[in-house]
Amino acid sequence: MSEKKAIIEAFTDLAPRYEQVVDGELRKFWGWSYDGFIDNLIDMTPLKDDDIVLDVATGTAVIPLKLVDRGKTRGKIIGLDITLAMLQKAAGKINASKPAVPIRLTCASAMSMPYRKDHFDVIVCGLATHHLDVPVVLAEMFRILKSGGRLTIADVSGSAEWRKPVWSFLIRSATFLYFLPKEGYARARSEAAALANVYTGKEWNEVLVKTGFANIKINRLPASHSWVPTPLVIRAERP
Ligand SMILES: C[S@@+](CC[C@H](N)C(=O)[O-])C[C@H]1O[C@@H](n2cnc3c(N)ncnc32)[C@H](O)[C@@H]1O
Repeated sequence: MSEKKAIIEAFTDLAPRYEQVVDGELRKFWGWSYDGFIDNLIDMTPLKDDDIVLDVATGTAVIPLKLVDRGKTRGKIIGLDITLAMLQKAAGKINASKPAVPIRLTCASAMSMPYRKDHFDVIVCGLATHHLDVPVVLAEMFRILKSGGRLTIADVSGSAEWRKPVWSFLIRSATFLYFLPKEGYARARSEAAALANVYTGKEWNEVLVKTGFANIKINRLPASHSWVPTPLVIRAERP
């Protein structure tokens, strides 16, 4: 099974119970509710009324719906995701809540997004960069953001120690074995593979600068245990 196929299979299986499962996992590892964690991303994303906003790897559209609920914008909001089942759930929630601002959904890969360059004012991405090739997705985000466009990312951060082969092997194995009995093979495989994309704050800064982003701010959020990887909220701008 390819990595992409494992991710789609994992999130297809997870879609019906996504919010509850993620809420339980974030509470257990970070002491954050899912809602509370996503609020950090929303709070760190100032929007103007006419902004065109893209939520990369939108999942069940929690972030777009929150942006509308909080009255952050009257502009256009698009959610993109590779897993159709997640988008189908998102569409059901959008239809049920009838948001004041239309939210459009696109099924595509964040590695090659179907948008022209210089298109978006704002891009957000929550809990998903660890499933993506970070330099590739950042280059895509940079391409489709307008000059002056803003990026906010909220996700898990890693430790430099994890790059050492022994640690890397142990952490991947522990992650795989944690998820296998609870969530099955596809999710266990996806989460273990995702560790390669979990960057330290320093690595995030380096890759953002290398891609061309400026005004980079990286906020480390508190987590309830010292032994778990900490959550980060990152802001940057396309000059
Ligand atoms: C943990 S969920 C996060 C969903 C949402 N952003 C949130 O905050 O709840 C990760 C999402 O990334 C999506 N994803 C993984 N790889 C992707 C890719 N290459 N392109 C687009 N979406 C991807 C998955 O389908 C899944 O919906």
